[in-house]
Amino acid sequence: MKHLLQVDHVVRNFGGLVAVKDVSLYLDQQELVALIGPNGAGKTTLFNLLTGMIPVTSGSIKLQTETKNYDLTHKNATQIANLGLSRTFQNIRLFKNLTVIDNVLTAMTSRYQEGFLTTVLRLPDFYLTERKMKESAERLLDIFELTDHKTTLAKNLPYGTQRRLEIVRALATEPKILFLDEPAAGMNPEETADLTDLIKYIQKEFGITVLLIEHDMSLVMKLATRIYVLDQGQLLATGKPDEIKSNPKVIEAYLGEGVN
Ligand SMILES: Nc1ncnc2c1ncn2[C@@H]1O[C@H](COP(=O)(O)OP(=O)(O)OP(=O)(O)O)[C@@H](O)[C@H]1O
Ligand SMILES: [Mg+2]
Repeated sequence: MKHLLQVDHVVRNFGGLVAVKDVSLYLDQQELVALIGPNGAGKTTLFNLLTGMIPVTSGSIKLQTETKNYDLTHKNATQIANLGLSRTFQNIRLFKNLTVIDNVLTAMTSRYQEGFLTTVLRLPDFYLTERKMKESAERLLDIFELTDHKTTLAKNLPYGTQRRLEIVRALATEPKILFLDEPAAGMNPEETADLTDLIKYIQKEFGITVLLIEHDMSLVMKLATRIYVLDQGQLLATGKPDEIKSNPKVIEAYLGEGVN
């Protein structure tokens, strides 16, 4: 079967350390999948590989859309972003001294890049693009309840709000696949519950595929239809939330007892 993203036997070494060991996985269209596992399991490294931020040591990564297949294995981060794979970071990366709206607009420019002359001469297309960008930025801010903060500098936002803005920036590129690295990290239970609803909503609304790293099991078990468990660089288990919750290997390596 043809999957949207097909990852085969991916390995990544850092000197003598094998951070990702022979990982194979797939993502289908419009799936919401979680990647869980203990600290240092290799989850972020796997995201870095899938988004081209670091090269694989071996293995292959393929994007298979309805119309075309792409080999992502040796593409760089910009090329992969342009093919519709977008991510957030475990440690927030915003332009702290830009306003909320400008943080979103700068994220969009990679998608709406105009010809040099159109931009310099400010031809009609330039204004059209600019208007379209603003409209779609404002729609995203509205969905994420950031409209009131539109002209606030990112650095002055509360922490949980900064995390939401990170997701808006990733969405601004109109991705096919969105990778979220611990989107609820540092959030309180109420913020986490709101974020859970929001992720579900945007996944449906925009028809995107989401792969999500998260330690908060309430969020994972609510959202994910499939889960991959990574431990010491290797896939320990994969399955539906109920199967993962009751898998003795996963309980021993990561979950402990008592996850409902
Ligand atoms: N650039 C790097 N150079 C050397 N070692 C690295 C590098 N990036 C990650 N590692 C190592 O690879 C292993 C996996 O790290 P990674 O950050 O992928 O784990 P993780 O599953 O995301 O953990 P956490 O849940 O704590 O975020 C760790 O041992 C880490 O120290
Ligand atoms: Mg990590």
